[in-house]
Amino acid sequence: MPPIDVRGRSLMYDDTGDGEVVLCIHGFPFNRSMWDEARMALASRYRVLSPDLRGFGESSGSDSWTLDDQANDLIELLDRLGIDRAAVLGLSMGGYIALNLARRYPERLWAMVLIDTKATSDNYEAKQNRLKTAETALREGAAPIAAQMLPKLLSSANAEDQRLLERLNSMMLTTNPKTIANAAHAMASRPDSTQYLSTMAMPSFVIVGNDDQITTPHDAHAMVNALPNASLVTIPDAGHMSVLEQPEIAYGAIRAFLEQAHNA
Ligand code: MLT
Repeated sequence: MPPIDVRGRSLMYDDTGDGEVVLCIHGFPFNRSMWDEARMALASRYRVLSPDLRGFGESSGSDSWTLDDQANDLIELLDRLGIDRAAVLGLSMGGYIALNLARRYPERLWAMVLIDTKATSDNYEAKQNRLKTAETALREGAAPIAAQMLPKLLSSANAEDQRLLERLNSMMLTTNPKTIANAAHAMASRPDSTQYLSTMAMPSFVIVGNDDQITTPHDAHAMVNALPNASLVTIPDAGHMSVLEQPEIAYGAIRAFLEQAHNA
């Protein structure tokens, strides 16, 4: 796909398949290539849209932004493509943005899949860590951030999976340090979505790796209990990147959920 102009920036995206739209929102500090398996698993049935968020991957935008801005970009992307409604899949930071969309644009979502993410905002300590992340990225580049994050991303079962480690590392190392800093500030200032969960009536599906140390099974259970129309699946032998660690199990479950939500 050629890039599309969205709110003054150029967004790159993959657009694969036909049918109802599934919009995939990547995590931090990754890019749209983390959804390659989603495209393979879902595009025979759905139209899978997977953009590089503003500033990430091949999309432009180095000025500071909020999660509202990222959500607004996605709504503008749907508008530009003439799409009324989409199911959103968001992993971690992508989940924070999916929750932002569900709060501010519920009429645009026919379903929501929250993967390895949480509804709560950052506590004081987490906010301080974000500030350090931003300063380090601006001073030293992406490498120290990648080195810090990499050991926490995978389950112990996959901790030695060199192919996966290399893939994650290369996504992180190629992320613009300015974007890492912008994302750290944006995530630190995101509101707590917990109070809004009870208003999110669309069919929802929560996925968590049983060994996710960043957004834990406890966080996932809390969301499922508060969402009015949600179910949960825990993926075995998976950490924070459950859809990359166990793609067959995760996308099998997502396909079944989307089918049910679509026919509801
Ligand atoms: C992500 O994977 O998007 C990040 O771990 C989210 C975060 O740092 O809160």
